[in-house]
Amino acid sequence: MTTLTRRTFLQAAAAVCAAGPAFAKSPGTVLKAAAAEQQVLPTEYPATPLWTFNGTFPGEALRIKQGDRVIRQLENALPQSTAIHWHGIRIDNAMDGVPGLTQAAVEPGGAFNYDFVTPDAGTYWYHSHNRSTEQIARGLYGPLIVEEAEGPDVDRDIVLMLDDMRLTQTGEISDDFDNMHDKSHAGRLGNIILTNGRMDLSYEVRRNERLRLRLINASNARIFQLGLQGLNAWTVALDGMPLGQPEPVDGAFVIAPAQRVDLIVDVVAEAGSEAFLIHFERDGGFAQVTFDVVGQDASQPRAAPSPLPPNPDLGRADLASATPIPLVMEGGAMGGMRGAMMDGRRMAMRELVQSGQMWAFNGTAGLPEAPLVDVFKGEPVRISMRNDTAFPHAMHLHGHHFREVRADGTQGPLRDTILIDRNETRDIAFVAHNPGDWLLHCHMLSHQAAGMKTWMRVQ
Ligand code: C2O
Ligand code: CU
Repeated sequence: MTTLTRRTFLQAAAAVCAAGPAFAKSPGTVLKAAAAEQQVLPTEYPATPLWTFNGTFPGEALRIKQGDRVIRQLENALPQSTAIHWHGIRIDNAMDGVPGLTQAAVEPGGAFNYDFVTPDAGTYWYHSHNRSTEQIARGLYGPLIVEEAEGPDVDRDIVLMLDDMRLTQTGEISDDFDNMHDKSHAGRLGNIILTNGRMDLSYEVRRNERLRLRLINASNARIFQLGLQGLNAWTVALDGMPLGQPEPVDGAFVIAPAQRVDLIVDVVAEAGSEAFLIHFERDGGFAQVTFDVVGQDASQPRAAPSPLPPNPDLGRADLASATPIPLVMEGGAMGGMRGAMMDGRRMAMRELVQSGQMWAFNGTAGLPEAPLVDVFKGEPVRISMRNDTAFPHAMHLHGHHFREVRADGTQGPLRDTILIDRNETRDIAFVAHNPGDWLLHCHMLSHQAAGMKTWMRVQ
């Protein structure tokens, strides 16, 4: 185990400590996108001007029961147009929140009525899908939790939204959203690490307590490498979808941008000590979240948790009848791309870069006119994604969950976002069950803005 030290920012000594749930719950039917200030840095620094949903960062926690309707009117009080995407929800296409594909962006002063049902229980999130490199970096995201009719037997349910943020010395969000280096390299990485908008989040727990931790990576581009100390854990769901069997967590695990991991953890650290969610960096392990063990529950350590109740069966794609559709990812720094199609015209790399584009899927930068996948409802789809770039990419498909087709032909757990390392080829497969036009893009948001997006049409 590497040493644990508390994060410091600009040598600040003060640690901001918070106990208990960080989100307020309100029954209101409006989601107002508006500017607000919140203390992100230690208190000797100024509060940070943010863009928020309903005044808090992260935005209001939406909690509903599986199968219920979410009815929310987005009111845009921002100086920019915006739209809300409900990440991971197998939603009606018209409610998917993608400007230019499923709706017009909501102008400043305008409104849009989102109204949809939530077919699957699990951990989801909502975020701006307009100028998302900027708008998510400014704080426009929140958790969307769909509860099982019968939840698992846990003492507490805790949402942990991981992020990094790039702040200036005066606590402002650094406004270099079009930074060329970010666009062409690993994306916009922050200089402070946050959980639920705080640099040093902590909870008081008791030994033998059983917690459900819902991890959501809301960062623009950071791949979090995580571990646990003093907590005995099982993974029970990925990207909202329950695993058939809980899997014991053994060592470090990774959560790419936009991915979610649901853990059930038992506090095994001694009373009077601390347990940790650890964030590993090159220079060691840091406390992402601290659990102060303030006492002991009488209950003996419990048996391994049961699986979460399954969501509606999505079936499996019949691989024999699904011809793999290639998706070749090219471009970026050290990628050797010489040019690509853009807006129906072939451009050399130099011209692409001048228009802010640096990446391509199958030789096209930005959203192509024709969809990558054009299928009828019920058809099996297999996409073979080859990463010919020097960076990893977190590929997200809207409106559907998919399974990875492993080398031995078996299919992995359901996901909506898959991390593909450099020089890797990964295949995903699913049955196209949800009609509409669906985005498929890299969730490293600067990459998306700089070309990494395509789409699928299901008729
Ligand atoms: Cu998290 Cu295109 O979305
Ligand atoms: Cu990418």
